[in-house]
Amino acid sequence: MSEGRVLEAREVSRRFAARGPRRRGVLALDRVSCSLECGRTLGVVGTSGSGKSTLGEVMGGLLAPTSGEVLFDGRPLSGLGRDGRRGLRRSVQFVFQDPVASMNPSFTVARVLDDPQRVLDRGAGAARRRARSSELLEMVGLTDDVLGRRPAELSGGQAQRVAIARALLSHPRVVVCDECTSALDVSVQAQILNLLRDLQAREGVSLLFISHDIGVVSYMADEVVVLDAGRLVESAPTREVVEAPRAAQTRALIDAARGLEP
Ligand SMILES: Nc1ncnc2c1ncn2[C@@H]1O[C@H](COP(=O)(O)OP(=O)(O)O)[C@@H](O)[C@H]1O
Ligand SMILES: [Mg+2]
Repeated sequence: MSEGRVLEAREVSRRFAARGPRRRGVLALDRVSCSLECGRTLGVVGTSGSGKSTLGEVMGGLLAPTSGEVLFDGRPLSGLGRDGRRGLRRSVQFVFQDPVASMNPSFTVARVLDDPQRVLDRGAGAARRRARSSELLEMVGLTDDVLGRRPAELSGGQAQRVAIARALLSHPRVVVCDECTSALDVSVQAQILNLLRDLQAREGVSLLFISHDIGVVSYMADEVVVLDAGRLVESAPTREVVEAPRAAQTRALIDAARGLEP
């Protein structure tokens, strides 16, 4: 399917149970509906604790909603069997803020990229896997020089490029980027954002792009949803959200982003 919605959240809520005896649970998402079109970017923005990561995990199938439904290619995730779940894990990949934390510190980049391929493509020999690793490194702007390095021996930008390469190994339909440039210097951040845009143009992958920074989100996204305390407070094409924000929370995010500019 190259048209239409690849991912859709319908009235999705997610409650987390209370930890202490006298504490109430947290309603991290409160009846949120949004959708990601094939080959496009849906931006998710909001302050810390507004439910962005929870929405990413629920839409990507890592976390079940308490109520509501997520559809992938029009099919409810709740109805997927074992094979369907396995397929979903390949089709939807994640890139997080701290790439080094997501890699085994004792593995070299070669192994970081090789191990998943042993599962994804059982028929592939070592030479074919190695060729695919090189191909992906080139795709993310790295060379084979990094293959022998461990995660801690990479710069922040290099490590995020490796994480993106690993995410692309399974030819995903969707990549969920959760604050994926928030830990990077501004210049490196711009490189990674442009890399993601290039990869999207080349591979046709759809992006669920999550950030607290509305400037970054508006650079990346076609459509934006704004979350506040688990609720969707605004949902519109990026240009409308930036030029004519309706919700007070959206205006506050824009002011906050302006305040950070030199
Ligand atoms: N595993 C969890 N257990 C309990 N509360 C959680 C859990 N994950 C998130 N929360 C709570 O849900 C709310 C939304 O969190 P999160 O989705 O991480 O927000 P954001 O990514 O926008 O910062 C917060 O109040 C957070 O403390
Ligand atoms: Mg988060």
